[in-house]
Amino acid sequence: MTSPTFKLLMALLLTGINSRKSDSDDTPGNTSFHRLSIDGQFTSHDVEQAATDFGNQYHLLPSTVLHPASVADIAATVTYVFQLGLSSRVTIAARGHGHSLQGQAQAPGGIVVLMESLGKWKTMQTHHGPDPYVDAPGGELWINVLKETLRYGLAPKSWTDYLHLTIGGTLSNAGISGQAFKQGPQISNVHQLEVITGKGEVVNCSSTQNEELFHSVLGGLGQFGIITQARIALETAPKMVKWIRVLYTNFTSFTEDQEMLISSEKTFDYIEGFVIINRTGILNNWRSSFNPKNPVQASHFKSVGKTLFCLEMTKNFDPENHEKMMHEVEGLLSQLRYVPSTLFQSEVSYLEFLDRVHVSEAKLRLKGLWEIPHPWLNLLVPRTGIHAFANEIFGKILTDGSNGPILLYPLNKSKWDNRTSVVIPDEGVFYLVAFLWSAPLSSGQDSLEKTLTQNERILEFCKKANIQIKQYLPYYRTEEDWKSHFGPRWEEFKQKKQEYDPLAILAPGQRIFQKEVASS
Ligand SMILES: Cc1cc2nc3c(=O)[nH]c(=O)nc-3n(C[C@H](O)[C@H](O)[C@H](O)COP(=O)(O)OP(=O)(O)OC[C@H]3O[C@@H](n4cnc5c(N)ncnc54)[C@H](O)[C@@H]3O)c2cc1C
Ligand SMILES: *[C@@H]1O[C@H](CO)[C@@H](O)[C@H](O)[C@H]1NC(C)=O
Ligand SMILES: *[C@@H]1O[C@H](CO)[C@@H](O)[C@H](O)[C@H]1NC(C)=O
Ligand SMILES: *[C@@H]1O[C@H](CO)[C@@H](O)[C@H](O)[C@H]1NC(C)=O
Ligand SMILES: *[C@@H]1O[C@H](CO)[C@@H](O)[C@H](O)[C@H]1NC(C)=O
Ligand SMILES: *[C@@H]1O[C@H](CO)[C@@H](O)[C@H](O)[C@H]1NC(C)=O
Ligand SMILES: *[C@@H]1O[C@H](CO)[C@@H](O)[C@H](O)[C@H]1NC(C)=O
Repeated sequence: MTSPTFKLLMALLLTGINSRKSDSDDTPGNTSFHRLSIDGQFTSHDVEQAATDFGNQYHLLPSTVLHPASVADIAATVTYVFQLGLSSRVTIAARGHGHSLQGQAQAPGGIVVLMESLGKWKTMQTHHGPDPYVDAPGGELWINVLKETLRYGLAPKSWTDYLHLTIGGTLSNAGISGQAFKQGPQISNVHQLEVITGKGEVVNCSSTQNEELFHSVLGGLGQFGIITQARIALETAPKMVKWIRVLYTNFTSFTEDQEMLISSEKTFDYIEGFVIINRTGILNNWRSSFNPKNPVQASHFKSVGKTLFCLEMTKNFDPENHEKMMHEVEGLLSQLRYVPSTLFQSEVSYLEFLDRVHVSEAKLRLKGLWEIPHPWLNLLVPRTGIHAFANEIFGKILTDGSNGPILLYPLNKSKWDNRTSVVIPDEGVFYLVAFLWSAPLSSGQDSLEKTLTQNERILEFCKKANIQIKQYLPYYRTEEDWKSHFGPRWEEFKQKKQEYDPLAILAPGQRIFQKEVASS
């Protein structure tokens, strides 16, 4: 259906696009405009909302917002814009859940496609069998994928820490969490994608069919196509999770133990870690959800004035095999060198564990601390640089860790497919280091500025010390920086862009390529 609002908006777009208003009937835009009909709708009342994201630093208004009701709606829109050619400035951004940090899902002056809207019309299909999988729409939230597959006793294998993110959004980056050391990132756990390229073609791809497009799109920052459906690998869902936290004061022992655990044959199912800088009462905070093994000793443990390292891990189990699980866990714990009085543990359902960050979200929302600026910095640090990095950053550049968690845990390169677009350090083991800062107004008008400056200092230090980090969820201002991010793979990335989105219509908010507009 071609709704009146849609016609109006398209007319608006057309006038905005052509520098010289054309009266002729045969402009490419006009021709396709008459052919275009969609099932969903274009709206303008929600352009403000489409210009916000979790980072809360960029607010670039689109001209219109597409609420697709079918894959064909998105394909028609991309085709339309593609056919406008270089006379048009219009770009298109797929928006997942808008959890980007620096406007990556925004399209200034262009069209934002609300991918979640597709999920209302397309349903998930779970397939049993020896290699179970689910076909899910690209705009589906991971929490919904989990709830749907759990109905069949199945679940995806690799996660992010937070599940209110979309399939298309995380697969455009990588999707990293504590399972990645064993399962690989989420982009290593996808069998097939349905993609709309920048030319408007709808294509299925996998490692055996249109394999170049398949690998390009994974970790491709939305540059090559819009993911409308993904086939995600599943496994038998664990019922329960043993969830453990222990503390270290010695960074070397901490990382040695982490590396030992990720390289062991029989090990935990999830391994992460975080850095705690000079915090009071951290253990008291945990007590609501964790039990200290030794409450008296734990109550004497002081965290203030110190930098501590928390190792966090889980072991999946079935309640019937509780004893066996405990035996394995005790065996693993006995090899670790944490401060003995700081063993904290808990047992929760698999769903409760995976959806843990949502609990924090609810608390932060209540305090008005969710919709504030988030100047996050996510880095992949090569193993050989992690000690120099920690020495300088924790305690020198950062003397206070109160404005957000800092994650730090190792990953194994062999679980990453080097044909995908994601860029990682060139070492067998590298660390994810995530500075998940908040900048609430209550901590001063300049708290955002201060944090951004601190992030710059961290990046500058890495450059000076020649630690070959790569940014995860990368953000750069210049082409020079993008070139150095991609390194030897830059030419290949550019060439694929030329092939799949030659007019640079897609995901303009990543600011890698700029649509060129012909001046007439
Ligand atoms: C609280 C929180 C916790 C997080 N935890 C983790 C974590 O543990 N691990 C991790 O890896 N990441 C994590 N992230 C980062 C997350 O992966 C990114 O924010 C990512 O952008 C996904 O968010 P989204 O689905 O809202 O996508 P959006 O922000 O909407 O989009 C991200 C990019 O992908 C493009 N895009 C969106 N949908 C599609 C599609 N269907 N096809 C093609 N391109 C598309 C957009 O245009 C944009 O460029 C976290 C983010 C938040 C806010
Ligand atoms: C497009 O073409 C139709 C006829 O084919 C004409 O009636 C209409 O005015 C044109 N619209 C614009 C915006 O040029
Ligand atoms: C891609 O594959 C899926 C699942 O097999 C199917 O439903 C869809 O129609 C296919 N799309 C195209 C464009 O062939
Ligand atoms: C930290 O542990 C390492 C071995 O894991 C040891 O060599 C070093 O001396 C320890 N440092 C301190 C300050 O105890
Ligand atoms: C990384 O994984 C590969 C393959 O599973 C394994 O052979 C190797 O030992 C692992 N390396 C480390 C340091 O864990
Ligand atoms: C730790 O924080 C306290 C206040 O909570 C402060 O007085 C102290 O100077 C800090 N110590 C360091 C080493 O930064
Ligand atoms: C990618 O990995 C494979 C082995 O998995 C290796 O043979 C190949 O050389 C690698 N390619 C690049 C460009 O590193």
